[in-house]
Amino acid sequence: MRQETRFEGSPNYVATEDLKLAVNAALTLQRPLLIKGEPGTGKTMLAEEVAAALDMPLLQWHVKSTTKAQQGLYEYDAVSRLRDSQLADIEGSERVKDIHNYIVKGVLWQAFTAPQPVVLLIDEIDKADIEFPNDLLRELDRMEFYVYETREMVVAKHRPLVIITSNNEKELPDAFLRRCFFHYIKFPDKETMQDIVNVHFPRLKKDLLAQALQTFYEVREVPGLKKKPSTSEFLDWLKLLLAEDIPAEALRSQDNKAIVPPLHGALLKNEQDVHLFERLLFMARNNR
Ligand SMILES: Nc1ncnc2c1ncn2[C@@H]1O[C@H](COP(=O)(O)OP(=O)(O)OP(=O)(O)O)[C@@H](O)[C@H]1O
Ligand SMILES: [Mg+2]
Repeated sequence: MRQETRFEGSPNYVATEDLKLAVNAALTLQRPLLIKGEPGTGKTMLAEEVAAALDMPLLQWHVKSTTKAQQGLYEYDAVSRLRDSQLADIEGSERVKDIHNYIVKGVLWQAFTAPQPVVLLIDEIDKADIEFPNDLLRELDRMEFYVYETREMVVAKHRPLVIITSNNEKELPDAFLRRCFFHYIKFPDKETMQDIVNVHFPRLKKDLLAQALQTFYEVREVPGLKKKPSTSEFLDWLKLLLAEDIPAEALRSQDNKAIVPPLHGALLKNEQDVHLFERLLFMARNNR
């Protein structure tokens, strides 16, 4: 890893000072950066933007509930080998002799052997079971692993910058946490959100933005919501408001009270939350 490399943000992505500090700390320590935060707060996008800003290729590993650590290292394709062994042609029988032809490289292997340092995104690590992070401890620490089938050691030519994201669905093991630099992306305050909106909709009218921001944070503050809307939902909603040409005044009642906002389906994703919000508005009105 080039020591002088530093992340200073990017024109497409609003990174707060503490987030930039975290990325640079991970670069300096040469440890994986573990990023947590509510859904839609830009965790995945951070990896994309760090890679772009540092001019490093990005390798992505999107983790599912069934993902195993081994798949990131390599897999031995025994089925193809068996099939080839049953073919009569000469080319096939030559192939079969060499087991290397049936070792499928995983994303960690690709990251370790890339000609230049890369950013390696391990996205949503909490989706997999608890063995997954434990099984990667040594590989991420020592940046090497052993291939039993070919008896070779794969050692990283360059240490990749590893960015790991988690939505906190499961706790990660302590031994894993010890090896990471940790950062929690706090939900953006109004000012930061304004900057984020400016990146996506630079020509948005000021009054619409101000009113939309107020409505959005009011919705988020409703106590007991099952699913608070996040940045990406706010951006979707703004896009719809623009597409439907909805003016700022339509987000407020005549007497400047909160109303159920138009196109609220972009913000509230289940009927209980919509009812809760409606009830709250109703109570606020009757208490006047
Ligand atoms: N700081 C930011 N600057 C610019 N755009 C942002 C920022 N944060 C979020 N966004 C917008 O929100 C969208 C969602 O971000 P992203 O997919 O990275 O979230 P996430 O945290 O990975 O969510 P999830 O946990 O659901 O995967 C992005 O495509 C981007 O448009
Ligand atoms: Mg994501």
